[in-house]
Amino acid sequence: MITPNLFYADLKDSYLFYNIAQKTKAYLNAHPQARLYRMGIGDVSLPLCDAVIRALHEAVDDQAVPETFHGYMPECGAPFLRDAISEYYKTRGVALSPDEVFVSSGASDELGDILDLFDRSNTSLVIEPAYPAYVDANVMGGRKIVHLASGRENGFRPAPDEGLRADILYICSPNNPTGAVFTRTQLKEWVDYANKNGSVILFDAAYEAFIEDESLPHSIFEIEGARTCAIEICSLSKTAGFTGTRLGYTIIPKELERKGMNLNAMWVRNRTTKTNGVSYIIQKGAAAVFTPEGQKQIHDNIKIYKENAACLMKVLDELGIWYCGGKNAPYIWMKCPDGMTSWEFFDHLLHEIQVVGTPGEGFGSCGEGYFRFSTFGRPEDTRIAAERIKELLKK
Ligand code: MLT
Repeated sequence: MITPNLFYADLKDSYLFYNIAQKTKAYLNAHPQARLYRMGIGDVSLPLCDAVIRALHEAVDDQAVPETFHGYMPECGAPFLRDAISEYYKTRGVALSPDEVFVSSGASDELGDILDLFDRSNTSLVIEPAYPAYVDANVMGGRKIVHLASGRENGFRPAPDEGLRADILYICSPNNPTGAVFTRTQLKEWVDYANKNGSVILFDAAYEAFIEDESLPHSIFEIEGARTCAIEICSLSKTAGFTGTRLGYTIIPKELERKGMNLNAMWVRNRTTKTNGVSYIIQKGAAAVFTPEGQKQIHDNIKIYKENAACLMKVLDELGIWYCGGKNAPYIWMKCPDGMTSWEFFDHLLHEIQVVGTPGEGFGSCGEGYFRFSTFGRPEDTRIAAERIKELLKK
């Protein structure tokens, strides 16, 4: 008889955002008239910007006539988009060759798929609280996981210590869920650790466009030494509203080698076997994000999400509740009031004021007692939710 992947038995019963959706659905079934204010999953509420919509329409028309029709796309990405992304990195002082850029159908897909490059015997380090897909993808692959807890004492940005033994190092900055951003000096410590120990950093840069403080790095490749130890995974989901449209990109430098094998060449081999590329239409839409007009328009949208964050932060300040994030990231990470656990606080908000957030415990055990708000909701909903939170929690 066939043996299924027995490591699935080691997964939690269900995924965090699925649990939240189920609890929310049960509440709505019991209270069909209720209006919910959703600040749980980080899904965007603003539509795609005009520059992208125009490019998508034009690309659809291209598909209508033989002269401009496209079938299979190059597996690693269309040259026009790989060029546009490498030009974008240049604006940050990072020189990349277009064939170090791999176009993907999204960062969450890629964060799991990229593990194909590494043997199952490797140990993965997950700095917690963390995006739960890192842990799940490694559990499914049967890898040993080292959970490195972070907290307020180190600003949720721990440093590698002498005794740490790990091969695959996940770093998410700006961080989901805490909003913490690693400084150049802090990232340099991780880069040095990885180069010294032969590890590889998987740098999740999905929220880089939210960084306001220009002294902070957007890319691991702004750090000296990263080209020999890091892979960067990024996405247009939050940057440009592509959560439903799906497009991401992965940077693998040509210098990145382990045990005589070149990881860029291995990923080319992987992609040419396992994908037929992202659709022409979506890649054309994505290329428009990197035009001057597209950059202006996506930053106008990010500004609206930042106003949502400011509205929530003001209320938390007034209530005297501890929080971080919100400034250089689209998430606010707060301490639950009155010693509530994070799921108790979730239920309290849902039942009393119909506000949905994300319990910190879902991001790892050290997230217990914390709660995350996404600032991607509709501005009007966020404003009402903030008022409701204020009324509910004021003493
Ligand atoms: C989140 O809410 O943490 C994100 O939306 C998850 C994701 O990007 O898949």
